[in-house]
Amino acid sequence: MQTPTQSVTPHPVRPAEFPPGPSALRYVSIYCQEGFNFLRLAKRLFQTYGDIVHVKVGHRHHYYFNHPAHIEQVLLAGYALRTSRPPTMRHALGQGIITSQGELHRTMRGLIQPFFLKPAMVDKALMIVEENERLLSSWREGEARDLAEEMTHLTLAIILRTLLGTVYNDAEMLKTIRRETHTLHQFSHQNPASHINMMVENQCPFARGRTRAGKAKRFLDDLVYREINRRRAAHELDGDDILGTLLRAQAAHPELRHFTDRHIRDEVMTMFLAGHETSASAIAWTWYLLSQHPEAEGRFHEELDRVLGGRLPRHEDLPNLPYTRMVFMESMRIYPPVWTLGRRPAGDDLEVGGYRIPNKSMILISPYVTQHDERFFPDPERFDPTRFTPEAEAKRSRFAYFPFAQGNRKCIGEPLALMEGILSLATIGSRWRLTLVPGHPVEMMPFIALKPKHGIKMLLERREPVLTEDAVMQATR
Ligand code: HEM
Repeated sequence: MQTPTQSVTPHPVRPAEFPPGPSALRYVSIYCQEGFNFLRLAKRLFQTYGDIVHVKVGHRHHYYFNHPAHIEQVLLAGYALRTSRPPTMRHALGQGIITSQGELHRTMRGLIQPFFLKPAMVDKALMIVEENERLLSSWREGEARDLAEEMTHLTLAIILRTLLGTVYNDAEMLKTIRRETHTLHQFSHQNPASHINMMVENQCPFARGRTRAGKAKRFLDDLVYREINRRRAAHELDGDDILGTLLRAQAAHPELRHFTDRHIRDEVMTMFLAGHETSASAIAWTWYLLSQHPEAEGRFHEELDRVLGGRLPRHEDLPNLPYTRMVFMESMRIYPPVWTLGRRPAGDDLEVGGYRIPNKSMILISPYVTQHDERFFPDPERFDPTRFTPEAEAKRSRFAYFPFAQGNRKCIGEPLALMEGILSLATIGSRWRLTLVPGHPVEMMPFIALKPKHGIKMLLERREPVLTEDAVMQATR
């Protein structure tokens, strides 16, 4: 990567037909040298060849883009680019907004989007804090817990209430839902086991629903269909959850012939998988980073004590917790849950960075790699929440930091995810201090979300808020 003193303008337009890059053989050799780790591979390619890298593997052209100016072109290309999703994902999720393209995507996004607008989010704040409280009621002083597990538990409970409005008090049932969701998630990912499973399910009707993934899918489908049928039977269309939003949209748009119960199931399942492991990783990594940076942790605790004075956070506290927000943003810079994005041109006339991109090419951009580029984030491995003060943000291209992407495929759940992150950090952080169990190894694993490979084992220590007179005044206001 270039040093911070070098120009941040992208490489000039090159006359060659293709940008520089390794041969396919060299590419594979670099991939092996980098331990089959995609993030290390991408970093090495940019260091060697510059901000635009081209590789031809078989018949397919691959383009890697690293510079914010090119990332902007990719993310704002609209429907000139299709998202690249493995067939295994379509097999698991069906045709929800993650896997759909073009007009279908535009229509469904338009119908679901209002759910995530601000007024609807106010009610969700209370639910998020309630679920945090429920989790904390099982925590004991001095215990060691895996925060990656705990946060997955928390965000699963939150997404279930967001989607279906259902509160699961039965811990066993929640455990089963979690196990089956994890299985389906694994089989939606691109790997040999998922492909074999998909082939077996597609080619052998007698095996359908009997493989591990098939059973998980059937279990989760039943959960969703049961709730759809129950609401229909009770003429209950007013639910303030995503299922309610979809049922109302279905009733209001009889002209949308594709909008069947099957499609509602696909949308719910899509949100289910998209909306909890990502949030869980983001929050879990934040606890880890805070535990490693006592000064930032001290400022975080000070803000919570001053603003909340020991009470539970509410939606209206969000603007008064700027440092907590900055901590969460910086954590998603260092560990972006969605670490890479793939796109394919929908036609032949796309141009990025001065190069025409042939149809059927694969375009890859990585929030992880760009957010660790020292030209945009000096000393990139250092955890420094002040990179996200409004002044610092205003000085940077908004395409140097894109944990939620941008444009027509931007994360639809971003408002919920941000609120969930900040309120969870505030609820837990105002009463507990978390320290990493000495010697516990922490290592990144780029899987569906960027996960801690060995979890994050932390010691739980109760903390009392430090209350100044000001804090009491502000908290009771
Ligand atoms: C910290 C948490 C989260 C992060 C970092 C995150 C990140 C992202 C990113 C980067 C994308 C774009 C993927 C691409 O274009 O290939 C995306 C899409 C999406 N996300 Fe999230 N997400 C988070 C939480 C959520 C939540 C809570 C929900 C739902 C409740 C959600 C639902 C979705 C959906 C449905 C899409 C597809 C949007 C479309 O294609 O139009 N996400 N997310």
